[in-house]
Amino acid sequence: MSFPSVRPRRLRRTEIIRDMVRETRVEVSNLIAPLFVVPGEKVEREIASMPGQYQLSVDTAVKKSQRLHDLGVRSVLLFAIPEFKDEVGSSAWHPHGIIPQAIKAIKRAIPEMVVITDLCFCEYTSHGHCGVMKDGELQNDATLPNLVKQALVHAEAGADIIAPSGMLDGMIGALRHGLDESGFSHLPIMSYAAKFASSFYGPFRDAVQSAPEYGDRRSYQMDPANFDEAMREVALDIEQGADIVMVKPGLAFLDVLHAVKERFKMPTAVYNVSGEYAMIKAAAQKGWIDERRVMVEVLTSMKRAGADLIITYFAEAFADLRQKGLV
Ligand code: PBG
Repeated sequence: MSFPSVRPRRLRRTEIIRDMVRETRVEVSNLIAPLFVVPGEKVEREIASMPGQYQLSVDTAVKKSQRLHDLGVRSVLLFAIPEFKDEVGSSAWHPHGIIPQAIKAIKRAIPEMVVITDLCFCEYTSHGHCGVMKDGELQNDATLPNLVKQALVHAEAGADIIAPSGMLDGMIGALRHGLDESGFSHLPIMSYAAKFASSFYGPFRDAVQSAPEYGDRRSYQMDPANFDEAMREVALDIEQGADIVMVKPGLAFLDVLHAVKERFKMPTAVYNVSGEYAMIKAAAQKGWIDERRVMVEVLTSMKRAGADLIITYFAEAFADLRQKGLV
């Protein structure tokens, strides 16, 4: 049967009917808010390339978490700008470092908040690469024990989930083993499983001052052209014990996200990254797009493609509009 009997427009006539037949809905409970934590007190420094996002000291990060929690956002993902950087990124496993401090303070103030920590070294190394370097190359196996040290410090401080983002071979297995041996067999790992070497990370690297001093990340992050390899990466991480798998970035990789959810049926996260946020903010500031509608459309596209969880700088804005009944 087709026209004139079938008229799809019948169900598009009113907002109530459209709402009744809407297939995909972004919920505030799907969202994870990234936070950038810096040394100091009462710091709230806006990031130039990410309007509305801030470098926060531990005290203001707690306030921000409280605000997010009041809006129904259940989880934050922590990144650090540490006190010092060195060749190997040793401040990453300092027990009183910025992330352990932030975890403890947030958990003390809001015990129900799910605190996820990014595990990587690019924010902590003087050269900005994601681990130990030798002759201009990232040393995979020499970095793994350091990653385990970082994970244990976060676990001991009370992190609820750890999220390794370095795209090192064997990182999930090494972390799972290290955590289990130290009594953290209950701690879930959210793996940045299919992370692409993307230019959409530009604003983030400004935010945490982690742009590589030389070279780039293409010898460890994936070539954006590779779909099959992404499937293999995800399969490897699941085999090694990942509990949640992530695709990153989001917008330019929705096909990968969709396939990961379809094939592996795992709890699946997507990272709506800094460049995706910055593009929308910039175009909206120029009056070229409607920020609110574009935000909802983008988040909806990620949910529709298969994301259970969306890591997004829009978490607070979306939750705020939802609370007001505007989205
Ligand atoms: C690595 C890390 C990066 C992002 C999250 N974790 C940067 C990179 O790989 O260069 C990017 C997030 C974003 O762009 O929003 N620690």
